[in-house]
Amino acid sequence: GLCLLSSLISTVAAGGPSRKQKNEDLVYTNANGAPVQDPTAFQVVGGSNGDDYKKVGPILLQDSNLIEMLAHFDRERIPERVVHAKGAGAFGYFQLTKPVNDLSDAAFLQPKAVGKKYKALVRFSTVGGEAGSGDSARDPRGFAIKIYTEEGNEDFVCNNTPVFFIRDPSKFPLFIHTQKRNPQTHLKDATAMWDYWNNNQEAIHQIMRLFSDRGTPYSFRHIHAFSGHTYKFVKKDGSFTYVKIHFLTDQGEKWLTNEEATTLAGTNPDHHTQDLFESIESGNFPSWKMYIQTMTPAQAESFKFSVFDLTKTWPEDTYPLREVGKLVLDKNPENYFAEVEQAAFSPSNQVPGIEPSADPVLQARLFSYPDTQRYRLGVNYNQLPVNCPLRANSPFQRDGAHAGFYKNNYGSMPNYQSSMKPMAYKSVPSPSHEEWVGKAVNFSSKVNDGDFEQANGEWLWMEGVGQQDNFVHNVAVALKGAHEDVREETYEMFTRVNGTLGERIREETEKEVKMAGEMKEKRAALF
Ligand code: HEM
Repeated sequence: GLCLLSSLISTVAAGGPSRKQKNEDLVYTNANGAPVQDPTAFQVVGGSNGDDYKKVGPILLQDSNLIEMLAHFDRERIPERVVHAKGAGAFGYFQLTKPVNDLSDAAFLQPKAVGKKYKALVRFSTVGGEAGSGDSARDPRGFAIKIYTEEGNEDFVCNNTPVFFIRDPSKFPLFIHTQKRNPQTHLKDATAMWDYWNNNQEAIHQIMRLFSDRGTPYSFRHIHAFSGHTYKFVKKDGSFTYVKIHFLTDQGEKWLTNEEATTLAGTNPDHHTQDLFESIESGNFPSWKMYIQTMTPAQAESFKFSVFDLTKTWPEDTYPLREVGKLVLDKNPENYFAEVEQAAFSPSNQVPGIEPSADPVLQARLFSYPDTQRYRLGVNYNQLPVNCPLRANSPFQRDGAHAGFYKNNYGSMPNYQSSMKPMAYKSVPSPSHEEWVGKAVNFSSKVNDGDFEQANGEWLWMEGVGQQDNFVHNVAVALKGAHEDVREETYEMFTRVNGTLGERIREETEKEVKMAGEMKEKRAALF
């Protein structure tokens, strides 16, 4: 035993310098590169040998080391993402298994790409909470994927739900406000949340998903990712196909109950972040399979709902999943800020062969992401290493804050289309596959009974997996804090989903309201 121990000690010693041994080649400097003798010493007037605290006088303005360290520290934070602020990320690869060259000209989907490992980055997130909020909150999960291809970065900015709360993009800021904090109390506001939903009932399909236990996943590894929106796969010949994209987890779906999630938010608010990091660190690499659902334009015409309506899914028996590839995460970031916080995903990051559809929410997102990133990260955010495409050549975008990381700000290259030094063009599929003609109008969608069909489907699905009781309970605990008029309207909304559901939710919620009242009285009596 002793012998083994001493050999272990010597291996450790041989493995590198001891922690206390200083590396003489690595001298600490200030940001300007000048060596600093003692980085934590500060310049003061008086103080005899520099160690008598009784003699410490005022600090000198000439102490550039101290000033530089404090000034830099003062600027360490950038704005957090306005939504999806809390998240975790990892690197890995995308691998094509079944080519899609019949539908798209994208290089990474062609037969010759099969098997090639394209570097990928994924960032998982919750939506409503701040950067330090609990991972187990009831919320959709963001699942943003960046694939670095030879034709530019392909981003799939997905959620773990195939539908969304809105189909009118103008509602997004209003809806998100009701998920964030009350402008006066700075508290989460159940009245605002349910009042919004009662009056914008196109959200009902997503509400049904959110309040089953799928709204509180066990970890990031155990969720699927869905494009939600309809995209277009296009070819140079002018043909296009509508697609929805799915990444299905190989780990299987796994959820927390409301009570498990609530406990975890207190005992380990970073549970999902930790689970992802530690799984990858221990060689347990999470993976997903990519599938597409497809519709021809003619099929879309005859489909019951609009393919541009983000609150609807396409039935898988009629529009089956077609396998495309796999996504594996096998490398943790080395630096969270540089590689995850500064990552900029956008639905507008598309390669030739993949295009947005006319879905108005998607169209709005094409603007919103680059816009927020110019604000959050600065105008040259695409030059940051984590966002920089494998090959960028955009010398018409010059200067601005932090320009120069990439290709020395394009050096002496012409900053206009110069006939003296012309550049070649590559032919890519034209974006003019669709033709839209009509009057300009103010559009706002209306809710009708059709909007409750797929919501009812969710309720029936919950019956099959034994989730109905949990659903009723999960709604009740979230609704109990809302104003009573708002609660009444919410019961009516759920009655539209299913004849008896409204009553069940009323019973459970009012029980919760009563219990909460009693608890409050008990506490008041104690203190
Ligand atoms: C993040 C806007 C709908 C998925 C964001 C961000 C904004 C935004 C401004 C922050 C981006 C950043 O700071 O880098 C919007 C608007 C929407 C919308 C205006 C509708 C009009 C959606 C939908 C999905 C989605 C429908 C999913 C299908 C995500 C994800 C992130 C995100 C995954 C986090 C990306 C990351 O990890 O950096 N959204 N969003 N969003 N959004 Fe949306």
